[in-house]
Amino acid sequence: MGSGGREHALAWKLAQSDGLTELHAAPGNPGIANVGACHPVRAEDGEGLLALARALDVDLAVIGPEVPLVAGVADELRHAGIATFGPSAAAARIEGSKRFAKEVMHAAGVPTAETLAVARPPCVLKADGLAAGKGVVVCRTQEELDAGLRAIAAYGDDVVIEELLEGEEVSVFAICDGARAVPLPAAQDFKRIGDGDTGPNTGGMGSYSPVAIDVDELVDVIHRPVLAELAERGAPFVGALYAGLMLTEEGPRVLEFNCRFGDPETQSLMPRIEVDLLEALAAAAGGDLAGTQLGASDDAAVTVVIAGRGYPAENDTGTPITGIEAADASGALVFHAGTALQGERLVTNGGRILTVTATGQTLADARTAAYRACELISFEGMQYRRDIALERGLRAVR
Ligand code: AMP
Ligand code: GLY
Repeated sequence: MGSGGREHALAWKLAQSDGLTELHAAPGNPGIANVGACHPVRAEDGEGLLALARALDVDLAVIGPEVPLVAGVADELRHAGIATFGPSAAAARIEGSKRFAKEVMHAAGVPTAETLAVARPPCVLKADGLAAGKGVVVCRTQEELDAGLRAIAAYGDDVVIEELLEGEEVSVFAICDGARAVPLPAAQDFKRIGDGDTGPNTGGMGSYSPVAIDVDELVDVIHRPVLAELAERGAPFVGALYAGLMLTEEGPRVLEFNCRFGDPETQSLMPRIEVDLLEALAAAAGGDLAGTQLGASDDAAVTVVIAGRGYPAENDTGTPITGIEAADASGALVFHAGTALQGERLVTNGGRILTVTATGQTLADARTAAYRACELISFEGMQYRRDIALERGLRAVR
């Protein structure tokens, strides 16, 4: 379920599984349509999804985005007896409410940014609920704080104030079966719209993997205690648990938990995973990840997001896109994020339009190949960062 680049990457990987008989997507997108059958049911339409899953007699449902998870679509599917990879609404609150996430982290003894009683710069303001990556304002000055308080009010009254942390950010994922957590390779995401990490936050403008950190150790101190705490509260987490971390001088601190795979991190992870993803997700959904490992190749992967005109403030629709075949032919993987078909013609349909992933023996090779492919794609108003995976700090992996 879902229609973004993350879902295209998951579908692409699932389609390679020996155990796969049919792949269906709701609603999918024109890229996913190349590896499976798309059905016009929105990922937020719980009833429609349940009816579709029943009609298709699916053996496993995989839910990509957070909105249906927080709304309880996984609960509905499981109640109907459908094996589902994705947390219940109760467990998805780890993403759906920043306040709940803090409470769980404190109870589990997981290091996170301190919550402050008063908004005073420097600090970070966070809307309590879901806000598509736009409900967070980093305030270094009083002017930024004043503007931030006004901006954040759009997402409701409940605002969490946090200490501002400095360091490198990294995304660490684990596939969970309610009790066990199996780590995936780490990835780094580039959140700001502009080169050099400037401008407003977005859903993510690029990613790369691997990152030179010890994920096993991080999953031990971060994911596993949270998993145990959620299980103790009667909300076992089944799905992808995503910790957004800041690696500070005092050690790792959780900035946020998400209840799903990251986008665009997933696009950099899927080409590196060397195991059968379908088997792993089915094992998680069935509550039995004992013995599952998510081995990855030594190759590096780099993903560049191509956004439309006006992103992140606006979406773009109906602009014709060319060059995808050439980009594919160059060896890159072009995952569709916000596209639609107008008759035979592929057009823009969203904020992030395409994500372009390439692999290589080194990060530099992967980066060169990804950017070469981006140059072959063209549509009016397209914008992408030129500095994804450029070496700097942690980014100097190899
Ligand atoms: P979140 O949705 O909570 O991950 O926040 C979005 C982005 O805001 C993060 O990826 C960071 O770049 C930034 N951010 C969030 N919390 C903090 C914090 N406590 N200190 C510094 N930056 C933060
Ligand atoms: N890449 C950020 C996210 O998926 O939330």
